[in-house]
Amino acid sequence: MTPSPAQHAPPGTAATADAVIAAVQSVLGPAEKFIPLHEPEFAGREWEYVKDCIDTGWVSSAGTYVDRFERDLAAYTGAGHAVAVVNGTAALHLALLLVGVKAGDEVIVPTLTFVATANAVSHIGAVPHFADVSMPTLGLDPEKLDRYLADVLTMQGGGGVNRITGRRVAAVVPMHTFGHPAEMEKLAEVCARHSLPMVEDAAESLGSTLGGRHCGTFGAVAALSFNGNKIVTTGGWRNMRSIFRRRPRSRIHGSMTTMKSASTIACRTSTPRSAARNWSG
Ligand SMILES: Cc1ncc(COP(=O)(O)O)c(C=O)c1O
Repeated sequence: MTPSPAQHAPPGTAATADAVIAAVQSVLGPAEKFIPLHEPEFAGREWEYVKDCIDTGWVSSAGTYVDRFERDLAAYTGAGHAVAVVNGTAALHLALLLVGVKAGDEVIVPTLTFVATANAVSHIGAVPHFADVSMPTLGLDPEKLDRYLADVLTMQGGGGVNRITGRRVAAVVPMHTFGHPAEMEKLAEVCARHSLPMVEDAAESLGSTLGGRHCGTFGAVAALSFNGNKIVTTGGWRNMRSIFRRRPRSRIHGSMTTMKSASTIACRTSTPRSAARNWSG
């Protein structure tokens, strides 16, 4: 396969920007008019359903539509469970708490992402640590990450500590840019090698699969966004987005192995489900 022009350009330069534009134009052709990043489209039974919510009074964080949404999302993605919370940022925040990220920890996030990925880390009082993405996938570069972690991590008390900053490195958060999957199998291997839990920022990747597996089912926990600019959007107080996970994993989730229903996910964080849904950070 011939590499795209963007793969040849040195990163962070005007030549890179030109190369990226040329690569996009080679797919889309010359733009005669502005190409929107997203355009909300309401073409089905949305009015009917919204009216039904209002008529029945279920306009907040509970009701049959929320339950159906969680069930259908889990079934569609193949995730073990899905929990609806107020937005993708809240879902990421909770996911990080679930894998044990604490204030003062360091969390690896991609240099190329929406700011919410890093914000969710900061909300905990942890520190986002930016790692390179690879040009062909626009997701975290597994080889570079592996080399970097091998260089900076020293094992102390069962956890990896960054010997330069002295902070515990607590998780890795790959993101699938515009729905293009990052190299998840390789990243999972890197995380396993360095004993780091992986939280997926799958905000932009509803419907994307890798080897037949849905984005968001590779990590211990994942977050999807249903913001107005995403593949599917939802109503709710602010907007309703969700968090989902594959299945209870005792290594990471400890007491969650006894989990019986999706509704207990947020409780593991000592955040009651209602508070999780109403997160407004
Ligand atoms: C990569 C990424 N992460 C997180 C988010 C946050 O999602 P939300 O806007 O639902 O909080 C978004 C989208 O806004 C996003 O694109």
